[in-house]
Amino acid sequence: MTMRTRSLGTTGPQVSALGLGCMGMSALYGDADRTESIATIHAALEAGVTLLDTGDFYGMGHNEMLIGEALRSAPAARREQALVSVKFGALRGPDGGWSGYDGRPAAVRNFAAYSLQRLGVDHIDVYRIARLDPAVPIEETVGAIAELIEQGYVRHIGLSEVGARTIRRAAATAPIADLQIEYSLISRGIEESILPTTRELGIAVTAYGVLSRGLISGHYTADRQLAANDFRAFSPRFQGDNLRHNLGLVEALRKIAEQKGVSVAQIAIAWVLAQGEDIVPLVGARTRERLTESLGALDVRLDDADLAAIEQAVPAGAAAGDRYGAAALAHLDSER
Ligand SMILES: NC(=O)c1ccc[n+]([C@@H]2O[C@H](COP(=O)([O-])OP(=O)(O)OC[C@H]3O[C@@H](n4cnc5c(N)ncnc54)[C@H](OP(=O)(O)O)[C@@H]3O)[C@@H](O)[C@H]2O)c1
Repeated sequence: MTMRTRSLGTTGPQVSALGLGCMGMSALYGDADRTESIATIHAALEAGVTLLDTGDFYGMGHNEMLIGEALRSAPAARREQALVSVKFGALRGPDGGWSGYDGRPAAVRNFAAYSLQRLGVDHIDVYRIARLDPAVPIEETVGAIAELIEQGYVRHIGLSEVGARTIRRAAATAPIADLQIEYSLISRGIEESILPTTRELGIAVTAYGVLSRGLISGHYTADRQLAANDFRAFSPRFQGDNLRHNLGLVEALRKIAEQKGVSVAQIAIAWVLAQGEDIVPLVGARTRERLTESLGALDVRLDDADLAAIEQAVPAGAAAGDRYGAAALAHLDSER
């Protein structure tokens, strides 16, 4: 299979049309199998996936060390094609708690030094703060990454979960490759002002949560037991009546998927792929089986009739519940 590619904005690299988000291999969705996680990264690289996404705070460095190990044990040709996108800035505690974000230039340099060491690489391909630090102007944070580029430690600058005004300020400071933000059939907030802004400025979108953290994958069931530290155990869309309503949307989607002979997850990923060449979905597969299903979305062609049927089954704004709980929403510049 020849992997399709897309460009990370007008200034960024060509990457595979689907990226692999590695977060769930270390954190937030309950236990993951280390051996299977590494096998999944290897299988992704083998299939032509070149973009691996992580955050230094996913399992407090665990995710970066996992990716480092997977890269070291991959065939050299695959390793050399891999591009690693890293988020930094989240402040954590030993109990797993979250206590804000740090975007000061000295902190950016410190975070980068640790990430390079854990990943075992001499540069980071795309580097971004995970959430805007309200105490530090974005120009300072982005300026610090631009200095790391001059020094050869980083290749490109990205953004994460910021709104149109911040995107413009960042882009006026230095070239921005991509904005990483949640985008799926049931999280379409970016369509109003964020996507028009990135398009105007030649910035790509790396879309996360394209399966809404598994909710619209077709595999999620109302009786699923979640560990206490699973994000979904307290995410509004996964609770009670909200969950029942949202799984009803999935059943409407399933009818369309069945008519096309594909899976629900493939329809959901294909819908994001169909929204523009400037959008690269990051899929959160953590097993080879899920990865294979996700990659199948690249072969799903959605024509106008399919897109209209999908829109009717899951209209914009149809989901019940916010995409984050109130405390996490308060950190989202993109929601202001
Ligand atoms: N910038 C940010 O603020 C931000 C926030 C969150 C995530 N991210 C990045 O985006 C990546 C993707 O996000 P996400 O993991 O929340 O996205 P996702 O792809 O919507 O959800 C992944 C979950 O969906 C389930 N799933 C079911 N079928 C699947 C299939 N065919 N392929 C993949 N997953 C399937 C899996 O659960 P089971 O394994 O239980 O089946 C998996 O844990 C993350 O890994 C992370 O790198 C960024």
